[in-house]
Amino acid sequence: MTAPLRLAVAGIGNNISALVQGIEYYKTLGNTSGDDLPGVKNPEVGGLRVTDIDVVAAFDIQPDKIGQELGKAILTPPNNYPRLAVSVDRYTARVQPGIRQENGRTVGEQEVAAALKAANAEVLLYSLPTGLQWAADAYARSALSAGVGLVNCTPETIARNDDFLAQFTAKGLALIGDDLASHLGSSIVHRNILSLLSERGITLQRSYQLNFGGNEDFKNLRQNSESKLSSKKNALAGVKTGAGLVEVIPSAGYVSQLGDRKVAVMNVTGLGWAGTEVTLDLTLKVQDSSNAAGVIIDLIRIAAAIQRAHHPGFSPAAVRLLKSPPRGHQTYAPQDVAAAQRTLQMVALA
Ligand SMILES: NC(=O)c1ccc[n+]([C@@H]2O[C@H](COP(=O)([O-])OP(=O)(O)OC[C@H]3O[C@@H](n4cnc5c(N)ncnc54)[C@H](O)[C@@H]3O)[C@@H](O)[C@H]2O)c1
Repeated sequence: MTAPLRLAVAGIGNNISALVQGIEYYKTLGNTSGDDLPGVKNPEVGGLRVTDIDVVAAFDIQPDKIGQELGKAILTPPNNYPRLAVSVDRYTARVQPGIRQENGRTVGEQEVAAALKAANAEVLLYSLPTGLQWAADAYARSALSAGVGLVNCTPETIARNDDFLAQFTAKGLALIGDDLASHLGSSIVHRNILSLLSERGITLQRSYQLNFGGNEDFKNLRQNSESKLSSKKNALAGVKTGAGLVEVIPSAGYVSQLGDRKVAVMNVTGLGWAGTEVTLDLTLKVQDSSNAAGVIIDLIRIAAAIQRAHHPGFSPAAVRLLKSPPRGHQTYAPQDVAAAQRTLQMVALA
């Protein structure tokens, strides 16, 4: 039997609530080795099932969450991911103070590194609000110093930083990022529609993508959307669009009544035969943080698996699960991606 993944998490928000409650949901289904788990593409990655995860350390800076057991902290407002009918009692790791800024200084880096070491964590999942590059850098340094791999869910630059990638690789650690591409998110849907237009010979005239939601991520993105916007554009790179024809608004509005649900509205207008117009309007509605957790579960297992197999650094197996992988999507040949997925027995994805 493969030993469970020893996961540490930084930022106990909706993503972690969805991840933890989801793992317990799959446990209630019984056998998790089969290939008929709802919402799961890869029942196993590197021999790890979706339920083979132990969260051994947790960090946050919200006073209400610090000191609480993780199972309680994930249910603490402003987190608003729905409460699933599962027990989260086994998540007893207490939330510890995260890395923060005090009087213009970054503090807590060494303490986090020591806690990661003490918990014998294998992989740190970085899941803070978007826009905190200083924090992303600091958690990456802590992971390096503790000898722990890192998965970056956010658009901040960590895996795309050559220096970090070289340091993680040299230490035998995984570095997977940046910015997860949601399970069925607006970027992947938009990208595929634009590709379809180009494949069918319809000339793009203009297109937009507007995203609305009612969780903290959307609240934060009203002010801090710069890195998210450029990452969303990376996710569309390589698709023939034409300069300035596609407009993307990461947070077109914070709508509290949507809670953790997200609504994305997309419009594509093109010209067909004889210059006549073709228009497509599409609305995508998802549980926003499930959409993240459904991908996080693969990213963390890829990180642990390549680290355990002594193939550290970045893995092409993760490329399709990210908006902004190192050196961009176009640099990974489909056969290399498929080969990396086969190595990790991500059979369903290959
Ligand atoms: N579909 C998705 O939900 C999706 C997709 C791609 C990327 N992301 C990104 O994932 C990240 C997390 O999303 P979320 O919905 O869980 O966010 P969230 O706002 O619900 O949670 C963030 C948590 O980080 C904590 N935090 C803030 N500063 C901290 C620090 N210095 N150290 C430790 N903890 C700190 C906050 O207190 C909060 O608990 C965001 O950057 C988001 O943009 C989400």
